[in-house]
Amino acid sequence: MKRLYIKTFGCQMNENDTEKVFILLGDSYVKTDNPEEADLVLINTCSVREKPEHKLYSEIGRYRLLKSKRPDLLLGVMGCVAQQEGERLLQRFPYLDLILGTQGFYRIKEALQTIENKGSPVIFNQLRDDFTIPLTLPNKEPPRRVKAFITIMQGCDNFCTYCVVPYVRGRENSRSPEDIIEEAEHLVKKCGVREITLLGQNVNSYGKKHKGYVDFADLLNLLSQIEELWRIRFTTSHPKDLSEKLVRTIAENPKVCKHIHLPLQAGSNRTLKRMNRKYTKEEYLEKVNLLRAHCPEIAITTDLIVGFPGESEEDFNETLEMMEKVRFQEVFSFKYSHRPFTVASKLGEEIPEDIKEERLTKVHKLQESITESILKAYLGKEVEVLVEGRSEKDLGKLTGRITTNIVVNFTAPRLDLIGSLVKVKIEEAGKHSLKGKYVETLKC
Ligand code: 5AD
Ligand code: SF4
Repeated sequence: MKRLYIKTFGCQMNENDTEKVFILLGDSYVKTDNPEEADLVLINTCSVREKPEHKLYSEIGRYRLLKSKRPDLLLGVMGCVAQQEGERLLQRFPYLDLILGTQGFYRIKEALQTIENKGSPVIFNQLRDDFTIPLTLPNKEPPRRVKAFITIMQGCDNFCTYCVVPYVRGRENSRSPEDIIEEAEHLVKKCGVREITLLGQNVNSYGKKHKGYVDFADLLNLLSQIEELWRIRFTTSHPKDLSEKLVRTIAENPKVCKHIHLPLQAGSNRTLKRMNRKYTKEEYLEKVNLLRAHCPEIAITTDLIVGFPGESEEDFNETLEMMEKVRFQEVFSFKYSHRPFTVASKLGEEIPEDIKEERLTKVHKLQESITESILKAYLGKEVEVLVEGRSEKDLGKLTGRITTNIVVNFTAPRLDLIGSLVKVKIEEAGKHSLKGKYVETLKC
């Protein structure tokens, strides 16, 4: 059997797409972790910011060397850069065999067949507005695992002015609830999965464009009826679409984890308007209050962009003020980076690199102290951890997460607890994770 190596960059949706390629090629290729022995190498790419896009170009160079030693090796690019650049990639790297966009990769078998028949490179990067993700279930007994992703929708119609996603993932489209439930049941019953993370660019607008589909809150309730499924997570939510019904569902459904990733992006109303985020900072704070009123223990994490074109010092200070007001558990912060096609890339008023850097450092410093105090509050408490595996740093310890998505590394008398829900007593708080010791097993 032939061997397939995939190098994945970017978000969880890309990781999920990589898994699907393995499923799609299930009978003809086995997975390898060593590109040197692969017959097909794919690079799954991200173009959300400039940096990950550049990584692709250095990565292609590496595999070119392999291909010059072994001309039979097939080399392809998939994901957002493949979608964005298409034919241009082939002009720049004529030795590529495959270019598969964010919808096109589902046709990988057909693409490989075409290469075999015609010997010429294949590009599948048309975006169809009515595209929906096909159901791809592993046909063989897959390896057992504790966590899995399910992409429930893809694409985005929001057109935030900095963001390339609507151009590389196309229009927002939701999968049918039946397909999602079938995939979830398969993962739980056949693969032993206990925790599912639902993925989409804007999961809380799930189903809105489709007559007869349930809404996101009801989708969560339907999935929670799968008995052996213990936990449901989801990402990403857009503040403008966060309904009271969803907030109540998060609070009341015990299987829905008490964590929401709710990107704020910026703290000043002027910047939010220029970003086309469709909410004000006051409206964002109202959503935070609603979440905390119904679910006081909920963890809120966010994304922030610093140095958006025209962002003044006052604008930026309002971002810091919002961080103090909300007290996010974790912040993922990025320097603004120009993306092709986007409105913001034509705004001018660019912020110099050193100022972006300075602002990013201020965000990091402030957040460090907030995260630290949130983690310290767990000291001495007992928490429920779904055990995912051995701790990478210390193989004698186990690792897992609590409902609020904090990683806990802990000592245990036995290491065969993977896949169990256990009680852990927290003894130490680190910068981004907790340490503790096993108390008892709650479910296995
Ligand atoms: N520059 C910097 N950060 C960006 N993001 C999206 N587009 C850009 C850009 N052009 C960030 C946003 C988003 C996260 C996934 O990436 O914060 O929420
Ligand atoms: Fe990009 Fe905005 Fe859509 Fe998120 S909501 S994917 S930031 S356009």
